[in-house]
Amino acid sequence: MSYSAEVYSRAKRIIDERRSAADRDANIKKADVYAKFPEVRELDNQLMRKMANFTMLMLRSQSELDEVLSSMKAEIDSIQQKRAGILLANGLPADYLEPHYTCKKCDDLGRKNGILCSCYKGLCRSEALNELDRSSGSASCSFDNFDLSYYTDNGASDGTNPRRKMQNYYNFCINYANEFSENSPSIVMMGRTGLGKTHLSLSIAKAVIANEKSSFGVVYAPAQKLVSELEREHFSFSGTNAALKKYTECDLLIIDDLGAEFPSQFTTAAIGNLINERLYENRPTIISTNLSGKELAERYSERTASRILGEYRKLFFVGEDIRFLKNR
Ligand SMILES: Nc1ncnc2c1ncn2[C@@H]1O[C@H](COP(=O)(O)OP(=O)(O)O)[C@@H](O)[C@H]1O
Ligand SMILES: [Mg+2]
Ligand SMILES: [Zn+2]
Repeated sequence: MSYSAEVYSRAKRIIDERRSAADRDANIKKADVYAKFPEVRELDNQLMRKMANFTMLMLRSQSELDEVLSSMKAEIDSIQQKRAGILLANGLPADYLEPHYTCKKCDDLGRKNGILCSCYKGLCRSEALNELDRSSGSASCSFDNFDLSYYTDNGASDGTNPRRKMQNYYNFCINYANEFSENSPSIVMMGRTGLGKTHLSLSIAKAVIANEKSSFGVVYAPAQKLVSELEREHFSFSGTNAALKKYTECDLLIIDDLGAEFPSQFTTAAIGNLINERLYENRPTIISTNLSGKELAERYSERTASRILGEYRKLFFVGEDIRFLKNR
């Protein structure tokens, strides 16, 4: 699977709008030119009649067909030349009446020979980024504005140096994003509030989506939003499972602030199932949480906690609350 259905349909809508705008524009020009130069209309009618004859040709033998086709081509060329001559004589380019599509490769159809065109892929990518901005509400978080100077450099060159530690995590995350694949590990970012967990997980999401060599579907959701969507879907008894499918099947799921959701039997089971299912299917997940390992076990289950702590790559964030440092 790749992008969500929503992303594809938003991108397709833009392509369809481009194509109809180009067609509309061509029709307006045509009406104008026909009014001014009726001979152009007459030539277009002739062209249309020639095209209509085309279907009848299919009934003939191959040798006849070749002959008729070549004479027909000559006639069409001659009509088109006359038509171009009139346009040029009146200061208009020869292709003035053709629709001018944004993408010359697919004429704004989004596909060529059944394959998605690069314009469609590009639009999917930018729609996926828009979707990320909407769901995270913090369009500004990226690797570029992750500032390591917020973490103290206490001089030590071992694991007790916060800046060194965070520098390693930062490098790890950039690398993870650049090399993201179906085989990437899951990650859990642990540590107190304000240490940059959300910032780095959003940076990964953005970089994975922006990577032009791939088209992975990334879903970011605060734990609270994720569980309330699942809850609504579950208790609506509508038989649809769009939300569950989105969170279970996306290429990369980011659950932000696990533990901040309102606890209930439903939410803890839903989270546990989701985490298990994704591990079982080998689908990478990134979790950020303020909870300790012990708290994870108390809140969810021993089993879920040990899955996360045992099978995810663990990053223990350190430092001081950066929200606080920024406001000082
Ligand atoms: N290293 C950093 N450089 C710049 N801004 C940061 C950094 N770490 C965090 N921030 C900013 O500080 C605020 C809190 O960080 P956040 O990532 O939400 O922390 P957490 O998720 O660990 O609670 C956010 O506005 C975030 O963009
Ligand atoms: Mg956070
Ligand atoms: Zn195209």
